[in-house]
Amino acid sequence: MSRQLKLGAFLMATGHHVAAWRHPDVPANAGLDFAHYKRLAQIAEAAKFDALFVADSVAAPTQDIASRIARSDHFEPLTLLSALSAVTERIGLIATATTSYNEPYHVARKFASLDHLSGGRAGWNLVTSDNAAEALNFGRDEHIGHAERYSRAREFHQVVTGLWDSWEDDAFIRDKASGEYYNPAKLHVLDHAGEHFRVKGPLNLARSPQGHPVIVQAGSSETGRELAAQTAEVVFTAQTSLANAQAFYADLKARLPKYGRSADSLKVMPGVFVVVGGTEAEAQEKCETFQQLVEPEVGVALLGRMLGNFDLSKYPLDGPLPELPLTESGQQSRQKLLTELAGRENLSLADLGRKIAGGRGHYSLVGTPEQIADRLQEWFEQGAADGFNVLVPHLPGGLEDFANGVVPELQRRGLFRTEYEGRTLRQNLGLARPGNRFV
Ligand SMILES: Cc1cc2nc3c(=O)[nH]c(=O)nc-3n(C[C@H](O)[C@H](O)[C@H](O)COP(=O)(O)O)c2cc1C
Repeated sequence: MSRQLKLGAFLMATGHHVAAWRHPDVPANAGLDFAHYKRLAQIAEAAKFDALFVADSVAAPTQDIASRIARSDHFEPLTLLSALSAVTERIGLIATATTSYNEPYHVARKFASLDHLSGGRAGWNLVTSDNAAEALNFGRDEHIGHAERYSRAREFHQVVTGLWDSWEDDAFIRDKASGEYYNPAKLHVLDHAGEHFRVKGPLNLARSPQGHPVIVQAGSSETGRELAAQTAEVVFTAQTSLANAQAFYADLKARLPKYGRSADSLKVMPGVFVVVGGTEAEAQEKCETFQQLVEPEVGVALLGRMLGNFDLSKYPLDGPLPELPLTESGQQSRQKLLTELAGRENLSLADLGRKIAGGRGHYSLVGTPEQIADRLQEWFEQGAADGFNVLVPHLPGGLEDFANGVVPELQRRGLFRTEYEGRTLRQNLGLARPGNRFV
């Protein structure tokens, strides 16, 4: 069968547009409404999305303007996806968990648990945290520096995957007649002692259906790419143009051989922000409805956060983007992307804030299902993407628009599945099940 693209449904409470919660069709309390999420999961599963994807931050914004932004109350991702595993059957469940403010044993255990609960559908989006405010919730005055975060992340990954191999797949025999619950020869104690962690193991549950839940990585700086090449099976990234996305894709795949990996063992999935309409004019009008709801100060606050935790409130709204130092606490890749965008299009602070109010700098498409499918096909066929993480302005409406319009168009073109290939997230993504390192 010819190569087909992968799709993630990036869920975000009321939607990705920062002003979505104010739209009349959007339930403003969606962040804590399980029925809302259940509906989203079922729409995405009926459309055969590979996975649901949930981002995270372990802090709530507190600056003055935060009281006007719907980002302060939402479910914790693993808890949410555990609940959703009970009302879905085939779709993957990818939760974000930071390596900066967690312990590897906790993370290994929770994701293995989700993998068991869901019959092999768990994925871990490994991040190092890009929100400086998180530090204050974990006994620190300042966020861990960029290089140090990635050093911790690399070892964190080693420990987590090591713990996932604590037991061979057939270690638990639970033989009532002999009284043997597990075969001790199939138990492997990790005994890890490194620069950041000392973890003995073993993990207190059997190896999970996928062996290892799928490792997703979101971070696109030089250090982020290297970590991805070494450890990730899916990479989520923000890219603004075909040329940039092609360069990123080629760069990442070229790093794989030195880790003994093949090109198709890592799927590159850029984010794409999509507004779908029956006609191009209708899509533009829909987009404009959300844009009208953005207060300039809200757009600029979002911009400051995305540039790497800067307070831009003291700069004139109609002035240019000020010169900022390289972010230590945030995403260096996104800072570069947004700074280049401001320069290229000569945007004022307020304009740039408005421009990213929907997709936060991800590639944006506004149009008919055919127009959107054309661009996705182009990126997919021209070495820019193996699939896409789909962001929609509002939920559930935007996801319904994509599922009912764009998915059938991709299917008509033979670019997307009409039925799930397998039972596990790995099978659907076309990723091998990892062997146990101790065997
Ligand atoms: C597309 C994308 C999505 C990300 N999502 C999250 C997230 O949900 N939570 C989080 O703490 N960090 C997130 N990050 C940032 C990661 O924490 C990353 O490890 C760190 O900020 C450094 O990013 P960089 O390598 O681009 O500098 C994301 C990064 C990218 C590029």
